[in-house]
Amino acid sequence: MTKPVRKAVFPVAGLGTRFLPATKAMPKEMLTVVDRPVLQHVVDEAREAGIEHFIFVTGRGKAVIEDHFDMAYELEATLQARGKAKEYAALMADLPPAGATSFTRQQAPLGLGHAVWCAREIVGDEPFAVLLPDMVTMASGARGTRCLAQCIEAHRAHGGNVIAVEEVSPEETHQYGVVAKGAERAGSFEITGMVEKPAKGTAPSNLIISGRYVLQPQVFDLLGKVGKGAGGEIQLTDGMKALAATQAFSGVKFDGATYDCGSKAGFLSANLAFGMARPDLAPTLRAQMRKLLGE
Ligand code: G1P
Repeated sequence: MTKPVRKAVFPVAGLGTRFLPATKAMPKEMLTVVDRPVLQHVVDEAREAGIEHFIFVTGRGKAVIEDHFDMAYELEATLQARGKAKEYAALMADLPPAGATSFTRQQAPLGLGHAVWCAREIVGDEPFAVLLPDMVTMASGARGTRCLAQCIEAHRAHGGNVIAVEEVSPEETHQYGVVAKGAERAGSFEITGMVEKPAKGTAPSNLIISGRYVLQPQVFDLLGKVGKGAGGEIQLTDGMKALAATQAFSGVKFDGATYDCGSKAGFLSANLAFGMARPDLAPTLRAQMRKLLGE
């Protein structure tokens, strides 16, 4: 029997230098895709996948994230007093239950592996999910679920550890973690190797690690030991690679769409895709795009 995945870690300490000046005074995770912060979309995905406890690894200048997932008493009282029942209900529906969030800080920017390691005491001895907030997924595939739900399904079926992957062109693999693919099974495949930011032309496949993971707690000890890897940072991929010596890893190719909101083009594409999925916005957006395209 595999233990259920109840907790998720959101590493949100990154500086957001790729989005300056927008992120000078505001965390990049609070940039909006339509009318929800990027991070809210990612938390929505975790909630839909059955996650019950949300662990944010933050840093200096990120306090507004904590406020976002708390009650906003004055705002809520004002909405109620003004009869804005719909807006009030929407805020309440998004609010995580009391005690369902934890916040800890990554004190120095030592890498993604270090950020995840910072959550070790809060996660404890159970399998957990990791969701990278730059990646926003959409349930646009035939399975009708988002990426983490599909990873948790593979975890239920095969236990062990699960990594979501995406196919990219071979010229792009050096910017990511890349996995080597073994035997296929229904809904997932066996991972036989992984490498973080392989030098151009050396990647074991064109399947990149796309920012959703289900991991066993033994990864924490290994993350504490691996030391610096690619880019001089403690890499999550290196911790997972060490764990793969003793535990199985499955890969899940997400059936749906992923937008890398850490890049400007990905962020704008996410806004278009989520905007077009909204009946109140799609007609205006479509007309505007036609005009821009000169159609
Ligand atoms: C991180 C991970 C990498 C993964 C990528 C996805 O890299 O280390 O394995 O492919 O996220 O966005 P980063 O984007 O922090 O360089």
